[in-house]
Amino acid sequence: MGTILRGGTIVTDADCYAADIRIGGEQIAAIGSNLDQTGDDVVAAEGCYIFPGGIDAHTHFDLPVGNIATADDFASGSRAAILGGTTTVIDYATQFKGETLRQGLDNWHRRAAGKSYCDYGFHMAISDWNDKIAREMSWLSDEAGVTSVKLYMAYKNAMQLDDSALFQVLEHCREYGILTCVHCENGDIIENLIRQLRQAGKLAPCFHPLSRPPQVEQEAVNRLTVMAEMTGAPVLVVHLSCRESLETVAAAKARGTRVFAETCPQYLVLDDSVYQDAGFDCAKYVISPPIRAKANQEHLWKGLRTGILDIVATDHCSFNLQGQKELGRDDFSKIPNGAPGVEHRLGLLYTYGVKARKLSLTQFVDKLATQPAKLFGLYPQKGTIAPGSDADLVVWDERRQVTISASSHAHNVDYSPYEGMTQQGQAVHVFLRGRQVVKDGKICTGNPQGQYLFRKPFPQKGV
Ligand code: URP
Ligand code: ZN
Ligand code: ZN
Ligand code: ZN
Repeated sequence: MGTILRGGTIVTDADCYAADIRIGGEQIAAIGSNLDQTGDDVVAAEGCYIFPGGIDAHTHFDLPVGNIATADDFASGSRAAILGGTTTVIDYATQFKGETLRQGLDNWHRRAAGKSYCDYGFHMAISDWNDKIAREMSWLSDEAGVTSVKLYMAYKNAMQLDDSALFQVLEHCREYGILTCVHCENGDIIENLIRQLRQAGKLAPCFHPLSRPPQVEQEAVNRLTVMAEMTGAPVLVVHLSCRESLETVAAAKARGTRVFAETCPQYLVLDDSVYQDAGFDCAKYVISPPIRAKANQEHLWKGLRTGILDIVATDHCSFNLQGQKELGRDDFSKIPNGAPGVEHRLGLLYTYGVKARKLSLTQFVDKLATQPAKLFGLYPQKGTIAPGSDADLVVWDERRQVTISASSHAHNVDYSPYEGMTQQGQAVHVFLRGRQVVKDGKICTGNPQGQYLFRKPFPQKGV
């Protein structure tokens, strides 16, 4: 006895076809049009699409920043994820200064264990690089199942690494099959721009984007791609936000460099008019990189279609306006950076991508599930609908409309950057390794069922 999803249209990165799916245990047992249904639970999926469970490769749950922590921990963040059709997140475990990688990772295992409603893996964010840390890199990849790291070229005096450390990390990552994800913004230039704005008395949150113009991002992307070329290490530019960086990545890809790139819904659907308000309200959009001028959006959508951009992740990093973002009421540079979004990735991309004819259905699945699985060592266990793959499945009903609002979202945060926007379609039923976790748009599982995912190394050549 198993479960049959009956009458839906299956979408993968390559195909879109009508068929039923039989779930057996935690995996997909069979796909076909005349599956014997005797003794099975049948879930009616007529009129719905069935997508592989979404993979959000960029979240920050329970991240300490200064004296506070993000508003969403693993419980609330992962609940929001499955409600939105994301069944796997890869969260940024962080090694703070003075810690070993093992200590940083242990801390994140403690944060997530028993609390996550979706499956989860970790990237290791490295803030402190020395010979001792270098010796932990083979353990990280071979034993801990962490086959990606994150480096910051910004956030000076906190997370930022200098070029020497960056270069050395890349050399180690190439050796151990680790993909290096990089926050590309030139932190030294940003410090100078902030100083100038401070001298001019421009400290309201609407001035945040002036401290981080596109060139600051492009310069860092370029520096990274050159280092990737020199070391032969595969790299991924996270949260790419503007045309300038896109062109830099395109040129590097054309030279054959193993550079991959991620963008986020906020850069695809929001524009810099969010900073028009001179008051504190635009602290909601104090994220890095900042939201860009509208003209960038078309370039990013095209980048997704042509493959310059490989994946879409949220960079979910939530802080309440009250009591958290407020810490920078008198100085935007003290506002904790980040915004929520893990719940709305599929909905926003479906509405403003697929329905607006900017992405095909197969491209949608590719960017939200298949490519993240391939890049981060989870394919074909995750990221596709095929016999033997985990039965992580999303039944998507486009006849349902959702109006995004802080008053109804599952994020544990007091605002939504997408307040009032309409989402066409909803994840009505969601399955995680064969078990139904969302039914009729509501959580239907008692205890969190998410498991830690040991990921495979990055292949030596191509993906
Ligand atoms: O503003 C952002 N993106 N905060 C989250 C941390 C990061 O830079 O990815
Ligand atoms: Zn970042
Ligand atoms: Zn981030
Ligand atoms: Zn929300």
